[in-house]
Amino acid sequence: MKKILVVDDEEPIRRLISDILEMEGYDCVTAGNAKEARTCLEQHNFQLILSDINMPGESGLDFMRYVFKKYKDIAAIMVTAMEDPQVAEAVFEIGVYDYITKPVSRSSVLISVANALNRRDLEISNRSYRDGLEKMVAERTISLEQTMAQLRKAMQGIIHTISLTVETRDPYTAGHQKRVADLAKAIALEMALTDEAVEATYLAGLIHDLGKISIPAEILSKPGKLTQNEFNLIKDHPQTGYDILKDIEFHAPIALMVLQHHERYDGSGYPGGLSNSQTLLESRIIAVADVVEAIASHRPYRAALGIDIALKEISKGVGTLYDPDVAKVCLNLFAGNRFTF
Ligand SMILES: [Fe+2]
Repeated sequence: MKKILVVDDEEPIRRLISDILEMEGYDCVTAGNAKEARTCLEQHNFQLILSDINMPGESGLDFMRYVFKKYKDIAAIMVTAMEDPQVAEAVFEIGVYDYITKPVSRSSVLISVANALNRRDLEISNRSYRDGLEKMVAERTISLEQTMAQLRKAMQGIIHTISLTVETRDPYTAGHQKRVADLAKAIALEMALTDEAVEATYLAGLIHDLGKISIPAEILSKPGKLTQNEFNLIKDHPQTGYDILKDIEFHAPIALMVLQHHERYDGSGYPGGLSNSQTLLESRIIAVADVVEAIASHRPYRAALGIDIALKEISKGVGTLYDPDVAKVCLNLFAGNRFTF
């Protein structure tokens, strides 16, 4: 049964209204002023309030403001002594559904009450539908984010595994790709690339020599100078790496970064002979990191030359072999002791 609070300072009026409502099957409680009404609100669970506007003490409007602040599911109708557009406007502004004028008639009370209760039910069910929808969207978003994070983690795991696999065939350069990836990431971070681009640069760095998997192990670990034919085979590795990776749907062009890591600023690199503006910034970063690591570390055909000689080579090639911005950032990283292998 719907419970209704009737607030009016005139006893005959609140009696009349509550009689009309009770005869229609509503359960009524009456209060002679706002203070009494507040007490009633604490004791009962009302669906609707019919309140007078002009009452001694707290006015009906102030009382309703209090009600709407504290009880969000109560509908309200105001009862006024006369029809006044200004009053009506004030009443609707605070969220009251309707107002009826005195003297009240049975039909006006019943119609207004039935409408207000219907509208309240509708608003409550709308709200709960909306809340449910928002909750569902929030839950699905979380679950989607978790799936994305798992996928990313799986992809990183796969790339690490590929990286280690390549290096098992080429023990002299073991750890090379990881160190290149670390330096490339540091340069990318320093150049303020987006989080995604930094991650892609790192991952591409980890597998940039993947294509060496197709080169015979004895060529990879040959201690002496390579013949032209052997060097030609080595030069295929960016393209081979690209061919292996190109159909994998990474979130970034990782296959292209691998393809371009031996291109040079002036177009003198391989396999495409592309110049600076034709390559990805990430590729140019990996190119510089690759050269620094390769010179600094031990090679099958020579001992490690050390970081100073590696950085000298970069300085020498600024603007001819290497992207000047990338090279500068790389040199600064080492000069400022902000990176070591
Ligand atoms: Fe390479």
